[in-house]
Order: sequence, then structure tokens, then C-alpha cells
Amino acid sequence: MRSDADSRGTSATFIDTLSSFSRLHRAQRWEGTFGEFLGNILPPNPSALARSSHEYIWDMLRWHGRAAAGEAAENVRARELFKLELFGIDEPLSRLVDYFKAAAAGSDVGRRLLLMLGPPSGGKSTVAILLKRGLEEYSRTDEGALYAIRGSPLRENPLNLIPTSLRAEFRERYGIAVQGELSPWARDFVEREYEGDFVRVPVERVFLNEASRVGIGTYAPHDPTTADIADLVGSVDLAKVAQIGDEGDPRAWSWSGAVYAASRGVLEMIEILKVKREFLYLLLTLTQEKNVKVSRFPLIHLDETILAHTNLAEFHKFLQEKENEALLDRMVIIKIPYALSYRDESRIYLKLVSGAPAFRNVHLDPHVLNLASVFAILTRLVKPEREGLDIAKKLRIYAGEAVEGMPETEAQRLRAEVPDEGLTGVSPRFVINAISNAITRGNTHSLTSMELLLALKDSIESDARMDAKQKKAWIDHLVTARKEFYNRWVKEDVHRAMFASFEAEAQQLLEKYLDEVEASLDHRQVTDPITGETRAADERFLRSVEEKIKVSDSGKLSFRQEVVRKAMVAFKAGEKFKLVSHARMREAIEQYLFEERRDVLRLVTSTARPDEDARQKISVVQQRLVTEYGYDEHSAKEALSYVTTLLAQE
Ligand SMILES: Nc1ncnc2c1ncn2[C@@H]1O[C@H](COP(=O)(O)OP(=O)(O)OP(=O)(O)O)[C@@H](O)[C@H]1O
Ligand SMILES: [Mg+2]
Repeated sequence: MRSDADSRGTSATFIDTLSSFSRLHRAQRWEGTFGEFLGNILPPNPSALARSSHEYIWDMLRWHGRAAAGEAAENVRARELFKLELFGIDEPLSRLVDYFKAAAAGSDVGRRLLLMLGPPSGGKSTVAILLKRGLEEYSRTDEGALYAIRGSPLRENPLNLIPTSLRAEFRERYGIAVQGELSPWARDFVEREYEGDFVRVPVERVFLNEASRVGIGTYAPHDPTTADIADLVGSVDLAKVAQIGDEGDPRAWSWSGAVYAASRGVLEMIEILKVKREFLYLLLTLTQEKNVKVSRFPLIHLDETILAHTNLAEFHKFLQEKENEALLDRMVIIKIPYALSYRDESRIYLKLVSGAPAFRNVHLDPHVLNLASVFAILTRLVKPEREGLDIAKKLRIYAGEAVEGMPETEAQRLRAEVPDEGLTGVSPRFVINAISNAITRGNTHSLTSMELLLALKDSIESDARMDAKQKKAWIDHLVTARKEFYNRWVKEDVHRAMFASFEAEAQQLLEKYLDEVEASLDHRQVTDPITGETRAADERFLRSVEEKIKVSDSGKLSFRQEVVRKAMVAFKAGEKFKLVSHARMREAIEQYLFEERRDVLRLVTSTARPDEDARQKISVVQQRLVTEYGYDEHSAKEALSYVTTLLAQE
């Protein structure tokens, strides 16, 4: 719970953020002739005004990362734009920003079409949206100022006005090469309105904006039989022909196609492989040659970045057609898989849940989202082949948890073994839908982890797209999620809530364990603090702690050495070695304490008719679950009775 003062503080900071945002974005409008542009605007920073769309996007990414920690690598900073919205896909995003970096530097990849490939609801559209929003914002800053010939439907770069014969001289003077060509529209405009005197041509600053189709275009294929290439490149505007009387006049062409809207910025192609092949060729030529050919006009120069996406089913279909091989060569494919760490996945759910009205007044017990995430990741993982490694362990390794007998670098090795992991399995949307169904159907204001599992089971069973085998596999994953994860988490909560001094006792026990381990490693004697007597290290105690987390007799030495090493590191840094810094030790000690007290717990919670004393004890525990561990009354009650049943089975 946040206090009032706290939330006032937060809202004050937020208002600060808003005002600095609006200060930053009170962008300067500018209008003038090309002559004025050359005299006033260009000289301070000529190269910024000659940027290609790829360079512009790369600069935009770096601009968004400008506030990130100075020591962070360039690639990390360039990913800031995505940081608050996309979780668990750092690697693909890193490849994406690398693409822009290389393309901006003039590498050949800039001449290939960028295709994001991934499973449904895996974040592809979100990547595109963030890039588009990022561009809109950047174009309103000083660094991102963009200029165009006023009135041009392509918002072409005014530098294109410089005649070819003068470009070498221009390059000498300003150190930049002009790449673009005037469009037929602009050629006609300059001739007709200014008798070729290009210095007088009006120039203005432009602000990228998707809603008004300025520098950001989006194309989604509808029915391919009716799709018309005119949607992309425009067509003759018959009404204007009637007015002007000449079909070949650029003013009689409708420049409303998506490729023109996207000029200077990005063209997002949704489900690109669903478009007609004719469209695809046009787009590939556009990326490669930077021009399009339409009837009546010579080649039209266009500078824009195509950002395409597609799902796997469509991609596999595409691969099956032999003639597509050549096309594939002209694409850069970036796979956008699902997250594989349940902690990242859980952040996705938290984001989706916080934004959805259905969840507004619903309490989720503290494990609901993590448990849903564990299930989701289990469906995505490929079973490990290795000895001593099961899927639950693999899942924990991917989440960065310490697992017995596995070095910390194991995650990378496991990932490398199955490069395509994360391209299949359950989507975030499936999980969120299952949860919201459970909430609306049950008309409930509180959802527990067990209710979540039931909701997921329901959704799996009623899913018409899944075959029986897959249903069974996924339901097995629900069981694994419950047994290997939820049971542990909920027991931990309950026993912590049972014993208020739990943390302190756990810390004491950790210290005792360390003392004994050190004595045993050094073959020293331990001195009893009270009687002053000496004795050998208490091997039985050590083993009884270690057995809780299945440290074997042959593995105990390396386990102990590792614990001592970590403790030494903490000690040297002037810190206390705490349970939180060692996940496995924490588990062992908690289990140890828990089992020691199990009987008390059993007695308190399992009596059918508890006496007043027991009733009192239960209610204190429940209360503590609510105040300290994130439960509400309903879920606290459920958790207690669930743990009681678990205990009865042990
Ligand atoms: N890795 C992720 N991090 C954060 N949010 C995510 C992630 N993956 C998906 N989401 C969320 O899930 C929802 C669906 O994602 P999005 O629409 O971007 O997927 P998509 O790949 O375009 O799917 P489709 O193929 O169905 O069009 C969005 O609300 C998005 O924010
Ligand atoms: Mg999408």
C-alpha cells in the first residue's frame, strides 16, 4: 500500500515529467524559401539534414537512450525506447537495433527488407508501434528536425532541389552528398510555380505523425482478390484529370498511397506475406533501389524504411513455394520469440492486467501472475535431453535462479542448444483471456492461484484449435506448475506468516550453518558459546539442512565451498551474508525451519473444530498473510486450507 504522502510525491514527479515533456516538444515551426534554408538552417549541422530514413531511425533510437546510464553499451542505450513496454526479448531487440546501426552506416542490410517473424501476440506490433511513436516524438526535437519541400506529398528533402550538375560543388562546400531525386510532382511544381528558380521554392519543417499520414504509413492486407496496388502507389485521379485535362500531369495523380505517406520515415507492412506477389516485388525494389515505378512517370525516388511483420504459419507457407527463395535473399529476418523467463512473462501480464478495466477491482493473490507465467513458459520450452535436468529446472535456470549442480552460465548453453525455442507455445493473450474469463464468469473480486489453474484448464479444454494430445500436454504443464512451483511458494508464505520471527531465525540458522561449514572445511573444532566446550563440526546438522534441497553426499563439498565463497565475497564488500543473496540456501533453511514446525502448523490448521485458542492462532496467521504477504481475506483462507491439505499428504 502506498501512503498518501507517497502518492502525492509520485504525482508531483509525474507532473514535472509532463511539463518537461511539453517544454521539449514545443517544437519550433519554420517556413522559408530554399535560399533561406541554405543560408540559415543548413550550415550549423549539414549532415543532420541529409540523413536517410535509416540514419534518422538510428539517431532516434540513440536519442531516446540519451538519459540511460553513461557506461551502458551503445546497443543497450539504443534499446531504451522499448524498455518500459517489452520484456524478455532483449536479444531480438538487440539484433533489431544492430540492423538500424548497420543500415545507417551504409551497410548493404539497409537495402534489404526488415521482416519481423514471430508467434502470435509476441510483441511484433508493439515493436512497430514503439518505433513509430519514437519517431513522432523525435521529429519534434531540435536534434530530430526534418525539413521538406512545402506541399510535396512525399515531403521530399529540400536538398533534392540541388541540380545534379551542382552536387559535386555542394559536397565540397558542405561535406555532404545529396542522394535523392526530385519527384515528378516537385519537378512540375518548381517549373510551373517558380519557372525553375529553385532557390525560391518554399521549405518547411515537418513533424512525423501517423494519424495525419506524415512520414508514417501502415498497410494491412485485406482480401487479396480485391487488393489494389493503387493502395500502395496511388493511381490516376479522374476528377483531377477532368479539371486539368492531362492524364500525365503529376497533379492528376493521387499521391495517397501508403509508400508516399511513409516517405522519409517508416512503412509498416502488417502480415506482409499475405500480400500479392506483385506488391512484394514493388516493396523489395523500393528497399533495394529506393524507388518505385508507376505508369506514366519515370522512376520515383523514395527514402523510407520498411518494417514488415508476419507470423510463422504464413512464413512456412511462403517457404514452401520455390520461387520465393530469391525474395527471401532480399530480406533481413529477425525472429521475435516469446519470453522464456517466467519473471519477464509475469511483467507482461502485470502490464496487460493493469491496463484492463476487467481487472480494475479484482484482487489477485501474490502468485497468480507468476504461476500463470510458469505455465506459459513450460508450454514454450523444449524438454532438455541432459541427465539430471528436467523441464522445471530448465525453467528456473532461464529465470536466473540457482539450481543444484548447474553453473550460472548454463542458461546460455541451454539456449544455444535450441535456437528456435520460444516460437511456439501459449501466447500472452491466451493466458490473459483465460484469466479475464474466469473473472467475468465468476463475477469475482478475488482470484486465487488455484482458481487461475482451473481457469487455464477450462480454456485449454474448450479450445477448438487444439488436438487431444496437445491438450493433455498442456494440462500436464499445469500440474507441473502447481507441484513444482506453487506448492513451494504458498507453503513458504504460510509458514512465514505462522512465525513472525521467521526471518530473524532463518538468519541465525544461516550463520550457524556457515560456522559449522567453515569448521568442517578447515577441520577445526567448534567452541560452544555457553559451556566453552569444544566439539567437532556438526555434520548431522549440516546434512539435514542440505538434504532439504537434495545436495547429495558427493556434491556436498562443492556446495559448501560455493556457499563459503559467496559469504566471503559479501564479507569483503563489507556486507552481511544474507539469505536473499543465496536462493538455494534460502530454500534449504526455510524448508528446515518449516519442517521443524510442521507439527505445530498441522495441529493449528487441521482440527475440524478448532478450539478458541487454535481459532485465534489461525486468524492471526490469516491476518498476517493479508497485511504482509499480499493476500486478501479470501485468498488467505484458501492458502491456509490448501497448505493444510498439502501437509496431510506429506
Ligand atoms: N515480450 C513482451 N513484452 C511486453 N509485452 C508483450 C510482449 N509480447 C507481447 N506483449 C503484449 O501482448 C500484446 C500482443 O502483442 P502484439 O500485438 O505486439 O503481438 P504481435 O506479435 O503483433 O501479434 P499478432 O501476430 O497476433 O499480430 C500486446 O499488448 C503486447 O504489449
Ligand atoms: Mg500484430
